[in-house]
Amino acid sequence: MEQKTLTKPILRLDRVCYQYRNKYQSVDAVKTASAEFFEGKTYAIIGKSGSGKSTLLSLIAGLALPTDGQVLYRGVPTDDFDLDKYRRNNVAVVYQSFNLFPLMTCLENVCFPLELLGKTPKEAAVIAREYIAHVNLPETVWRRFPNMISGGEKQRVAIARALASGAKIILADEPTGNLDVANGEKIVQLLSDLAHEDNYTVIIVTHDMSITQVVDEVMQMSDGYLLPLVGESCE
Ligand SMILES: Nc1ncnc2c1ncn2[C@@H]1O[C@H](COP(=O)(O)OP(=O)(O)O)[C@@H](O)[C@H]1O
Ligand SMILES: [Mg+2]
Repeated sequence: MEQKTLTKPILRLDRVCYQYRNKYQSVDAVKTASAEFFEGKTYAIIGKSGSGKSTLLSLIAGLALPTDGQVLYRGVPTDDFDLDKYRRNNVAVVYQSFNLFPLMTCLENVCFPLELLGKTPKEAAVIAREYIAHVNLPETVWRRFPNMISGGEKQRVAIARALASGAKIILADEPTGNLDVANGEKIVQLLSDLAHEDNYTVIIVTHDMSITQVVDEVMQMSDGYLLPLVGESCE
């Protein structure tokens, strides 16, 4: 509580609403969601399928703008950003299915955002190797293509690529969904270390209740509303 009074949140949701609509129908997917997220902390958002979790993540990631309310990054509403830049520089997303580029080696996957940021291929390779080492991957994976490494290793490469983008907020949509329990726990541990040791803000959307035991704060989405966690299960 004390920290909240001393530090400003890196991300704030202020009565965020999102409505999908077409000519015939509309769906209120997110309803007046308010929350604050701080640097150096891990968060889990749990909730049933269809409760609005992915929609909320896409609003935080700048893939869409709220239809009402505001998502504020360091106090600035995402409406005021060049959304392409915001997406590229401020928020990185890690997915359940890893979403690595299949025709690039692991090293090239991590180089990709660095080259987008203007690094030369040589510079990018040097920095990418540091990130790959930082997520505890051995050098032997550098030159392999994603289909030549395990699920846990793929998720580590995806996290290294997220870090290479320079974003300080990591959004993880079911990051353990395709991993066995042991590898899932290691990935969550890595995400926690990144928050607690390197000051990233980590927001994990998950069905995996074991994750709720190890994050700093748990929230629940229910029918579009974002609430503090009530009860034990999201099923
Ligand atoms: N592209 C879309 N068009 C219309 N409705 C959508 C679309 N995507 C999701 N929805 C609806 O919005 C609500 C929230 O969906 P979603 O954010 O995907 O939930 P979750 O990630 O928790 O499963 C659901 O009712 C879903 O059917
Ligand atoms: Mg979803």
